Amino acid sequence: MIVDVLSIFPDMFEGPMSVSIVGLARERGLLELRCHDLREYTHDRHRSTDDAPYGGGPGMVMKPEPLNEALDAIELLEDEPGYVVFFTPAGRPFSQDLAMELADKERLVLVCGRYEGFDERAVMRADLELSIGDYVLTGGELPAMVVIDAVSRQLPGVLGDEESAVDESFADGLLEYPQYTRPQEYRGVAAPAVLLSGDHGKIAQWRREQSLRKTARVRPDLLARASLTPTELQIVQDELKRAETPQER
Ligand SMILES: C[S@@+](CC[C@H](N)C(=O)[O-])C[C@H]1O[C@@H](n2cnc3c(N)ncnc32)[C@H](O)[C@@H]1O
Repeated sequence: MIVDVLSIFPDMFEGPMSVSIVGLARERGLLELRCHDLREYTHDRHRSTDDAPYGGGPGMVMKPEPLNEALDAIELLEDEPGYVVFFTPAGRPFSQDLAMELADKERLVLVCGRYEGFDERAVMRADLELSIGDYVLTGGELPAMVVIDAVSRQLPGVLGDEESAVDESFADGLLEYPQYTRPQEYRGVAAPAVLLSGDHGKIAQWRREQSLRKTARVRPDLLARASLTPTELQIVQDELKRAETPQER
């Protein structure tokens, strides 16, 4: 996959996007990341990318000309135009499903906003307006890195063990079960005996039950999408009832 990022701070990406899974994906040639400086597409002495909003109001707005010229140039770098994503708190909420959808694209163009956001005549180029959550950040660079990280994990061959993305939280509409490693007992708390039993059937069953219980406790909204057997439904109902019952101190 090729990812082109457009930003006034392209240097922000190099550190975080060079380590761990994303770094490995790049090293292995599974992900090509190109960060473009929006200021390269300005024509004034100050290399301005923002201007005051028409109609007044606080802050500055990203000018349409540098954004459109940069997108024209980036589009021409490959035979096929990329799928263009503009970051905005008013966009479609990011999710694991959307990460998987984006991982199917051959090329993404991620456009990072600053100031009060973009002139609408640049946003018209977007295939998708995307938000990473209901809060306001200072710029679109962190959201772009979040998307690159989540999407990279979905690219074939990036995770060493193909199973590990399948088992993660949200993969089947549930949160992941609790994990344990050595030592067997730590500060008086033992790892659950079933995980040391070597019985893979029982381990899978325990993990599924723990996933169901945790999801019911922490994110019951996710359960609407999960397909559950009658026994699993009963586990969920028990857990929901337990969560509603005030615990004795
Ligand atoms: C200070 S914000 C602009 C907020 C805008 N005035 C508003 O109220 O929606 C500057 C830029 O940061 C990025 N940004 C901030 N929060 C974001 C979020 N939750 N998801 C995606 N991008 C975000 C966007 O690119 C945005 O253009």
